[in-house]
Amino acid sequence: MKSSAPGKIILFGEHAVVYNRPALAVPVNQVHVDVDVLDSSRQGIWIHAPVIDLHAKLTSLPSDHPIASVILKLIQLFDISQTLNLEINISSTIPVAAGLGSGAAVSVALIRALALHIAYPLTNRQVNEIVYETEKLHHGTPSGIDNTVITYNMPVYFIKGQPIETFKTGKPFTIVIGDTGVPALTKESVGDVRRLWLRDTNSFENIFNEISQISLIARRSIESGRPELLGELMDHNHTLLQEMTVSSPELDTLVSAAKHAGALGAKLSGGGRGGNMIALVDQPKAESVASALISAGAKRTIITEIR
Ligand code: MEV
Repeated sequence: MKSSAPGKIILFGEHAVVYNRPALAVPVNQVHVDVDVLDSSRQGIWIHAPVIDLHAKLTSLPSDHPIASVILKLIQLFDISQTLNLEINISSTIPVAAGLGSGAAVSVALIRALALHIAYPLTNRQVNEIVYETEKLHHGTPSGIDNTVITYNMPVYFIKGQPIETFKTGKPFTIVIGDTGVPALTKESVGDVRRLWLRDTNSFENIFNEISQISLIARRSIESGRPELLGELMDHNHTLLQEMTVSSPELDTLVSAAKHAGALGAKLSGGGRGGNMIALVDQPKAESVASALISAGAKRTIITEIR
């Protein structure tokens, strides 16, 4: 049985969302993880994930391995034995450790493909809960925004622990995504922000409050069909992320390059320190902003329309 899950980008509010402030994120369907689960003639559960050079039997992997932990959780949940004979093929076009949610997308697609294979229907809510549990194993204190936007495959206005809210776009808008090619673990930047927040709680709370306002105004601008207002909000959000120490020279270079090439605003997206940035553009400028990003060192770009 096959299943697929998209990537995601955070438009506003990363990091602050871990501290219960709102954030906005959308799925990116140009990149995806595909999982195929097949009955096998050889004994055991075999996992093939060529993008991370993984070809292994489940029992040979540590139980906290990101892929093994998802499969083991399902085996436990479905009350099925590990003596199933399966081949699990995982392919992905989502760059790893780039802020596009590759880990959550693998988990979502894997859970759905396995559940379909053993004919055990799962609701989106159940999938989301299982993925969140496994995200906690690997990310420390995740907000849950990645698994939510990827599971439901729709734009979300997300506040940790609250019922999921989607938002509608009054007018479509175009985002260019630029990948620094620098891998960065979300767990590390989230951990660093936590240490800084503990040391200087007042300043960080003020930053998070400002970001909260940005997310709120951004949602209103999107819903009222005035996406051009998002440019300035992105610039402001990026400055606050710099203050939180989660930008990097590569991200700042791409953000400036996008602005020089005519983007209306730009910011890092996701955990930061590497990974991706996003720029808001007038649609006709999308290609020229994307080539300016490549000239400034981006390893790849994606142009995506949010509607
Ligand atoms: C990662 O995509 C977004 C962060 O806000 C972490 C989280 O929300 O769990 C940096």
